Amino acid sequence: MDIDRIGAAFSERFGGSPAFVVRAPGRVNLIGEHTDYNDGFVFPAAIEFDVVVAGSPRADRAVRALSLVYGQQTAFDLDRIERSAEAPWSNYLRGVACVLTSAGHGLLGMDAVVDGAVPLGSGLSSSAAIEVASSLAFESAAGIALDPVQRALLCQRAEREFVGVQCGIMDQFISALGRRGHALFVDTRTLEYRPVPLPASGVSIVIANTNRPRSLTTSAYNERRSQCEQAVAALRQQAVVVQALRDVTLALLSAHRAAMTDVVYRRARHVVSENQRVLDSVQALERGDVRTFGRLMVESHASLRDDYQVSCAELDALVEAALEAPGVLGSRMTGAGFGGCTVSLIEEGAVDDFRERVGSRYRDTVGYDATFHVTRAADGAERVA
Ligand code: GLA
Repeated sequence: MDIDRIGAAFSERFGGSPAFVVRAPGRVNLIGEHTDYNDGFVFPAAIEFDVVVAGSPRADRAVRALSLVYGQQTAFDLDRIERSAEAPWSNYLRGVACVLTSAGHGLLGMDAVVDGAVPLGSGLSSSAAIEVASSLAFESAAGIALDPVQRALLCQRAEREFVGVQCGIMDQFISALGRRGHALFVDTRTLEYRPVPLPASGVSIVIANTNRPRSLTTSAYNERRSQCEQAVAALRQQAVVVQALRDVTLALLSAHRAAMTDVVYRRARHVVSENQRVLDSVQALERGDVRTFGRLMVESHASLRDDYQVSCAELDALVEAALEAPGVLGSRMTGAGFGGCTVSLIEEGAVDDFRERVGSRYRDTVGYDATFHVTRAADGAERVA
């Protein structure tokens, strides 16, 4: 994060120094994919890529925002917030302002500069990062401070209502509540969470970006969500009392297999088995058993690829290459899928070799380069100046 750069950009555009600077991180989900909108378990960590907003309150209701990433400035009025087709990046800011206002928080206008190092559209939650950073910026401008869980919930609402992705709570939650050196085990039904320390030495977490532009993500995502709802509805028709797939076991699901289509059954099987894998992973990590954790990551990928069908050739190529490289304990796609990134757990000394081998295998198979990031778990959103 470069506070000087964003401060200088603020002074140049709006004059004076910003009254505040806030940051919010992207995330990598270690395991627990497509479980959060089924009341299930997730296990993400915040990463060392942030969205940063520098701002100052205004005396009127205007919001002026400059994006350094897009080199574009936009403006809107807090009393008439509309989506912008010309500056789509600002819809996160607009959406967050809209939900904060409708939740009864009195906002002030502001001048803001937005900068970001979270790779865009790559499944590392650049959207959640900009939402959470925007919320913190509006709060700072108005002199209010929401509880971080409330902040995450309002940002999720902004994503659903303003951006149109019927997402779960994971991304906004970890961006708001991440803890340095830890992943968060989150029960998305109760929103209870527990920071679990990641091994401080011995293993590294490596993110590999397929660099495949994501497409169809919103429609396929919303379709998966509705298939999960169909599974729950089918079970209820069988007089099974369940609120969400969280309440279902594999035995129960297979006993009612005939009540649903094969596709719906497989979607549900992924969610049910993935929830168990999260519980097993957290237990394994807490007893220092990184090998079991790695094996569960591999099983998670297979289930996302075969049952949930949200992987793609590029993600599979990265995972396959990773599993052939020495020192790799586990590897899987992370985030919604259809492109984006994989996350791998690797013995510390093996990382350079991993980049080289997996990088060249990927280039040979796919025809372009993957990008690698070794990451440590970072803190969640905060005001930094
Ligand atoms: C996206 C959503 C999350 C979650 C993941 C899949 O990142 O925003 O809520 O559903 O996909 O695990």
